[in-house]
Amino acid sequence: MSVITTIADLKRLHKRRTPRMFYDYAESGSWTEQTFRENTSDFDQIRLRQRIAVDMTNRNTASQMIGEDVAMPVALAPVGLTGMQSADGEIKAARAAEKFGVPFTLSTMSICSIEDVAEHTTKPFWFQVYTLRDDDFMKRLFDRARAAKCSAIVITLDLQIMGQRHKDLKNGLSAPPKFTLSSMANLATKVPWGLEMLQTKRRFFGNIVGHAAGVEDPSSLSSWTAEAFDQSLDWDRVAELMKMWGGKVILKGILDAEDAKKAVALGADAIVVSNHGGRQLDGALSSIRMLPEIMDTVGDKIEVHLDSGIRSGQDVLKALSLGAKGTYIGRAYINGLGAMGEKGVTKALEVIHKELDTTMALCGRRDVKTLDRDVLLVPEGFAGKWE
Ligand SMILES: Cc1cc2nc3c(=O)[nH]c(=O)nc-3n(C[C@H](O)[C@H](O)[C@H](O)COP(=O)(O)O)c2cc1C
Repeated sequence: MSVITTIADLKRLHKRRTPRMFYDYAESGSWTEQTFRENTSDFDQIRLRQRIAVDMTNRNTASQMIGEDVAMPVALAPVGLTGMQSADGEIKAARAAEKFGVPFTLSTMSICSIEDVAEHTTKPFWFQVYTLRDDDFMKRLFDRARAAKCSAIVITLDLQIMGQRHKDLKNGLSAPPKFTLSSMANLATKVPWGLEMLQTKRRFFGNIVGHAAGVEDPSSLSSWTAEAFDQSLDWDRVAELMKMWGGKVILKGILDAEDAKKAVALGADAIVVSNHGGRQLDGALSSIRMLPEIMDTVGDKIEVHLDSGIRSGQDVLKALSLGAKGTYIGRAYINGLGAMGEKGVTKALEVIHKELDTTMALCGRRDVKTLDRDVLLVPEGFAGKWE
């Protein structure tokens, strides 16, 4: 493919170049994948108001997220196993984000460790934590994040237990991949991926192996994950974790106005309206459909971000116009990474930036910070009446 103009182009290359189990891991939702599908199709229902003869010179996509300057309000979402999509994937994505001027969020379940990413970047990044039962391990994670100069933590609240993704079970997902007849047959068709992977030592869960008690052997990781996640999590524990960190906190996985109010009460710096990209509760409504109600409830009390379903700069513009101060992309940059490594992540950011900038201009606006509901045509009943 010579000319890449869309995220869909990157997705096709990602599929071709990356082993099936990792491509499928990224391209899956849980169970029937209804929420996964609707995250994108609901964006398509919202249309744009064409405005003309408005001075469109000197446009600006720069803004701020949690007080940090961003070249556009689009952060890279935390994505587990990123270093399996392309060797040293987290380092590549973090570098692309830094050069572009947008935040990078490192997942707890990353292949490259917090220290690896810190060593290969110059600006602070954000670190995502899952809520684990082991206090000692959480404290050490926070210490490591502080030592790496992470400027915020993102606490993910919608994964106390994993939503089932059928393909991962059928493919026998693991990091590194286990050699079965079917995985070997597929790996044999991904030689450049394999050669790059052989040249890095980063092939295990870098934040965990060697740091969590009893996880010297990576093959024990899946059972560790099942045991370690805190199913008894409640808002008191969230408050405790926020105190333990002591710095800026973004609470991720809010999809209900009542939960948004609780996040406000705890004094979080921002919330992410998110259903984990349709990977957790299948049957939940899309993030973009839930955004208006959450904005009406807490929009004047806390900074609201959104993810799940963003595949273009137009989607970003729609979320911002409905009131989000920032957005995140997950699969859109993973498609870029799997397609072309660091260059592919940069390409994904460029595609989204260009779409955002041009769309903004054609809607008669010059500054992302001025986007509002007037830019959109939202069909009657879009939020729906769900009881
Ligand atoms: C392959 C994959 C792995 C993910 N891993 C994590 C993770 O480790 N931690 C987390 O908080 N969210 C994780 N997410 C969710 C993303 O942070 C984000 O909410 C989601 O990707 C947004 O939807 P989108 O992919 O449609 O942009 C993951 C998403 C994907 C696609």
